[in-house]
Amino acid sequence: MSETIAAAPSIGHSALVVRPIAGSIGAEIYGLDLTCPLSDETFEAVHEVFLQHLVIFLPEQQALNPDQLKEFAGRFGEIDTAPFVHPLKMPSLEGYPEVFNVIKEASNSAINIGGFWHADVTYRERPHLAAVFYAKETPDFGGDTMFANQYLAYETLSDGMKEMLSSMRAVHSSDMPHGREDVRFGAVSKDHAPTDGDRKFEATGLETTRVDIIETAHPVIRVHPGTGRKALYVNRAFTSRFEGMSVEESLPLLHILWAHAARPEFTCRYRWTPHTVAVWDNRATQHYAINDYYGQRRHMQRISIHEATRPV
Ligand code: SIN
Repeated sequence: MSETIAAAPSIGHSALVVRPIAGSIGAEIYGLDLTCPLSDETFEAVHEVFLQHLVIFLPEQQALNPDQLKEFAGRFGEIDTAPFVHPLKMPSLEGYPEVFNVIKEASNSAINIGGFWHADVTYRERPHLAAVFYAKETPDFGGDTMFANQYLAYETLSDGMKEMLSSMRAVHSSDMPHGREDVRFGAVSKDHAPTDGDRKFEATGLETTRVDIIETAHPVIRVHPGTGRKALYVNRAFTSRFEGMSVEESLPLLHILWAHAARPEFTCRYRWTPHTVAVWDNRATQHYAINDYYGQRRHMQRISIHEATRPV
């Protein structure tokens, strides 16, 4: 069921049509042309849909240049200009340090960036509020991205578990202490069986870096600053242990929470088409880039937005 929002359209835009793509997360928005500036009123309407559906997709855009992408991304908050170096150094666009190229060549049988359940850079004091993602070149099939709603992950826990987690904090580490095996999972397709060589970072052709490990503790249940709703905030890639507990003590409960966080009922799966723009709310979602398109090229561009304050 789609919904038409009667926002006074800016020049170049029609009334927004919103089409949810799954029962619990994700909506497509039609009627916007991101080559034209958005009025404050139109952006507010888009932002409302973003808060409500957690990940928005704007398909059928015209080809966008990096300035147009930056213009749109900047409406969501402060753009992150720091280099992306964990666990791989992600190349940015010449002249645009804040625009990262996420490319997997057809011949690359190794890992793809983000091929594991995670929220972005949660080891930072101020992780990302959102990521703006632009599909430049997409496989004919495969290469979808999954997203999971972490409000629902929290709300469906038992009362006892909610109560116990409410005062707990977890340490998040850029070293990915428990996520590494998932990250190394090689490309698959019906024509390609992963080999040992596929499971090495080195095989990506991307630069690996030796940088200091960053560790930060955040609440296990956080409150979303835009909606006031509570969300589960632990992810398999970066969460290392509970504060004040050993890794051995933490892992059994973390495994339960990680599995719960990615229940199919909380997810959507998006099939990309060229020039689609997406924005995910990194404060209350996790995502997973599926590595099932061996033999095809995929090229995405990404701009990240900082959270204004630390998660509470
Ligand atoms: C990411 O995790 O940032 C990449 C997502 C994707 O390539 O679909």
